[in-house]
Amino acid sequence: MDSQLAIRARGITKCFGDVVALDGVDLHVTQGQIHGLVGPNGAGKTTLLGLLLGLAVADSGRLEILGTPVGRAFEAPGGVAGFLDGPGLYPSLTARQNLAALAALRGDDTRSAGIDDALEQVGLADVAEDRTRGFSLGMRQRLGLAAALLSTPRLLVLDEPCNGLDPAGKKHVHGVLTRLAREGTSVVLSSHRMDDLEALCSEVTILATGRIVFSGPLGKLAAENRELDYRLVTSDPERARRLAAGAPGIHLPDDATGGQGGAVLVVRALVPALDDLVVRLVRDGIALRELRPVFSPLEAAFLALTEQQKTDAEHQETGR
Ligand SMILES: Nc1ncnc2c1ncn2[C@@H]1O[C@H](COP(=O)(O)OP(=O)(O)OP(=O)(O)O)[C@@H](O)[C@H]1O
Ligand SMILES: [Mg+2]
Repeated sequence: MDSQLAIRARGITKCFGDVVALDGVDLHVTQGQIHGLVGPNGAGKTTLLGLLLGLAVADSGRLEILGTPVGRAFEAPGGVAGFLDGPGLYPSLTARQNLAALAALRGDDTRSAGIDDALEQVGLADVAEDRTRGFSLGMRQRLGLAAALLSTPRLLVLDEPCNGLDPAGKKHVHGVLTRLAREGTSVVLSSHRMDDLEALCSEVTILATGRIVFSGPLGKLAAENRELDYRLVTSDPERARRLAAGAPGIHLPDDATGGQGGAVLVVRALVPALDDLVVRLVRDGIALRELRPVFSPLEAAFLALTEQQKTDAEHQETGR
């Protein structure tokens, strides 16, 4: 089983002066898995990805990548590719020349290095001869992924790879990552977008202030039994509000109009209490025109978990 692990991290801690960027982080990523890292700004995602790429070393803890323990040297472990904070490119070279320079640096034959194929895969074949100086963020991100593809990595580490991508670019990147994973490459990526994570990742790790607050399958995160905010549009908002205020298991948030005047009613409830409310509304002759969660179940779980971690950390700080 362990031989299938692309990443095995245990108790990883990393500080920058007084700032504890990672605090006892465990991470398991299996072969061929796309694993998402999520968390608020400053949670430690980039720091963790930097350790995986060999750009920094942990202060303590054990890290094994592709079955090899990572020592204290700053070097990319073999079989690993990726980038942080956007890829480093030569602005005066074209997309193709950038990839050729990279292949040459590695000592590869630039004619057979798979440059055309990599450009094609990320949807940049049409701009292969353009200088990267004029590339948008999304194009640079995609060229970075093409560069990573040249080395046929067994582990791909990407910091916010879908940032700045237009829908077509996103489709290319999603396609490349899912194909690589199907072929056995493990992928670890960070993202702030739940829709990307839902589309790509089988497992996610949520970090908040350097600690893991959840790690596991996405389905498990969404299915956590918690109250959600729902937005209701009815034929009689005023009467619906009065009925909801007296219904068991239904809570009205401070702004129960969802910031949209009287027409919308926002209620917080578990699904069974919401079902009862809908039945009562209809029985009272109030028509339901729209019903949907204010946040997706995943987003709601994410917000609840990270908010809880923030509150716990504040309480610890003030000794309460
Ligand atoms: N080189 C550094 N020197 C000092 N502090 C750092 C350094 N790198 C990161 N930090 C601090 O470590 C913490 C984690 O930062 P990190 O960049 O890993 O967060 P992140 O989850 O990637 O955030 P974001 O979503 O904004 O990209 C932050 O408090 C940050 O200020
Ligand atoms: Mg970051």
